[in-house]
Amino acid sequence: MTTLDLIGSSPKFRAVLADVDRIAPVDSAVLIQGETGTGKEVIARAIHEASPRRNQRFVALNCAAIPSALLESELFGHEKGAFTGAWAQTKGRFQMADGGTLFLDEIGDMPPELQPKLLRVLQEREFERLGSTQTVQIDVRVVAATNQDLAQLVNKKLFRADLFYRLNVIPMFLPPLRERVQDILPLTEFFVTKCAARLNKPIDLIPDEVVEVLKAHDWPGNIRELQNFIERAVLFSPGPVLRLPLDLNQTVKPRSESASRTLADADREHILETLKQTDWLIGGQDGAANRLGLPRTTLIYKMRKLGIEIRRSSRARPIRRSAEGQCRAAASC
Ligand SMILES: Nc1ncnc2c1ncn2[C@@H]1O[C@H](COP(=O)(O)OP(=O)(O)OP(=O)(O)O)[C@@H](O)[C@H]1O
Ligand SMILES: [Mg+2]
Repeated sequence: MTTLDLIGSSPKFRAVLADVDRIAPVDSAVLIQGETGTGKEVIARAIHEASPRRNQRFVALNCAAIPSALLESELFGHEKGAFTGAWAQTKGRFQMADGGTLFLDEIGDMPPELQPKLLRVLQEREFERLGSTQTVQIDVRVVAATNQDLAQLVNKKLFRADLFYRLNVIPMFLPPLRERVQDILPLTEFFVTKCAARLNKPIDLIPDEVVEVLKAHDWPGNIRELQNFIERAVLFSPGPVLRLPLDLNQTVKPRSESASRTLADADREHILETLKQTDWLIGGQDGAANRLGLPRTTLIYKMRKLGIEIRRSSRARPIRRSAEGQCRAAASC
């Protein structure tokens, strides 16, 4: 199948892997939905690696991380002089992925003005670079992902219905970690082994009571949260026996609480919990972005979208003078 590390043997995860094998040989578009950190990008790569396109490129683009004014050029490329600063002709992600797979992450954030152009390239397999009249033909398989409810965005007229149906030819839903508790032990063992080797801190034993605590936790940030948490646990374990940092025990919730939450609620709660733990510090080694395994700008973007205010952390470093002699505030977020 694939050379990727895909850990898990729960029935729900085995069903996902069976879907990957079924989906891989065909060229139809795939829409992967699931909460943050459930492994959407990993599964997109697995589809590519199991497909006949495996020897061509897998190109990933996070639609939420690129300002909308630049996204068109990022996707389709531009001609020299197409806009101020366009010094040379540039290939877009579609052209880079020619023959391979293009992974469009956070597709729900695709600006409305770009959606018709994306629809056209999915249907006709052709487009024009910005500033060009020459049509470029490409052969790309598109795998898109989102942690938003795309059907609901369609209902609210925030996402084009025709594009949704074009992307949703093969829908995939990744289960949250709390619905595949059976995978928590193998994932923990996998991350402990990796982190221990990387941090040069041998861990020989994961006590049963530690596993029980990990299994009881809700994991709103899913596999990414578990991964980051294990890294901290390995780092702070005083000896070869894995010890848990205190904060997880403080945040264990009954699993039933999560049953009726929307994906956005889960995301919001997880980010707020992490911000509380870091005293609202976003950037830096001890900041929330690092703990969540996200770039700082992505976390700030998500916070704005989820209506989480950006507070000044009391742990922010004081204003200092930069080498050029200009005053600037050391990043408090
Ligand atoms: N089955 C798995 N086995 C091992 N590691 C995994 C597995 N699934 C995900 N991971 C790891 O968990 C982390 C999160 O995975 P990924 O980035 O694919 O999630 P995502 O759903 O795309 O998250 P987001 O919604 O935040 O973009 C990554 O570090 C990835 O390597
Ligand atoms: Mg992702």
